[in-house]
Amino acid sequence: MDNHEGSTPNAAHQHNAQAWDRLTGQEVELARPAQEADFRAPLAAVDQDGWLGDSIRGQRVLCLAAGGGRQSALCAAAGAQVTVVDISGAMLALDRVVAARRNLEIRTVQASMDHLPMLESVAFDLVIQPVSTCYVPDVQPVFREVARVLRAGGLYISQHKTPTSLQTTLMPGQGAPEEGSLGQVAYRLAEPYYCHGPMPEVDACRLREAGTLEFLHRWEELVGGICRAGFVVEDLL
Ligand SMILES: C[S@@+](CC[C@H](N)C(=O)[O-])C[C@H]1O[C@@H](n2cnc3c(N)ncnc32)[C@H](O)[C@@H]1O
Repeated sequence: MDNHEGSTPNAAHQHNAQAWDRLTGQEVELARPAQEADFRAPLAAVDQDGWLGDSIRGQRVLCLAAGGGRQSALCAAAGAQVTVVDISGAMLALDRVVAARRNLEIRTVQASMDHLPMLESVAFDLVIQPVSTCYVPDVQPVFREVARVLRAGGLYISQHKTPTSLQTTLMPGQGAPEEGSLGQVAYRLAEPYYCHGPMPEVDACRLREAGTLEFLHRWEELVGGICRAGFVVEDLL
């Protein structure tokens, strides 16, 4: 494993590295490695929307902020050359456990997604990033780094929390019902759209991970930021 986190001291990064180490110990769902059934059709399991075509064999794939033994192991089982970057040492340990168990070759790098000087430019054909940009205060450096390490014409599959998911109450029906409402049980917007520090910390729930520091990124920062880094958006789900 390469360890580079020491070169980018940042309070949010350190906080989230520790939080994800803890969540890994608690075996939360997002820290669950790929299961035996997933390996019967590894490409279909990692690419449920069918964006990657018939094969990624031989492709150089970066699984970004994707520790936990899922994306990295499935891409490697599908024949790709895989590097996985994550800030949590415990999440990366899961990638190494799965790699050893299944005899897969996976390079693990402990680093923050917004600062990747250890990765050469134009080194990847494909970057897969599960939901994780919520953990950095500024997304633009992430997109710049991805654009730098991808070859021209390479593919970036990038998942995000919507701003609304970070703005709402954590459970439907929280807070006083609106005057004149029809009595529907609904989530309510509890946080502003323009939001500069981390979101208030919460207990674990479907929309948030306990103990982490999360940042709301507006649509123009997510979609516009991807465009400003030089990408063309081919699809959006
Ligand atoms: C939702 S999990 C994604 C991994 C999981 N395999 C999945 O299937 O979704 C988010 C990951 O982002 C990582 N992370 C948080 N902040 C990060 C940062 N600044 N740089 C790199 N990874 C980060 C966490 O350690 C965690 O492994």
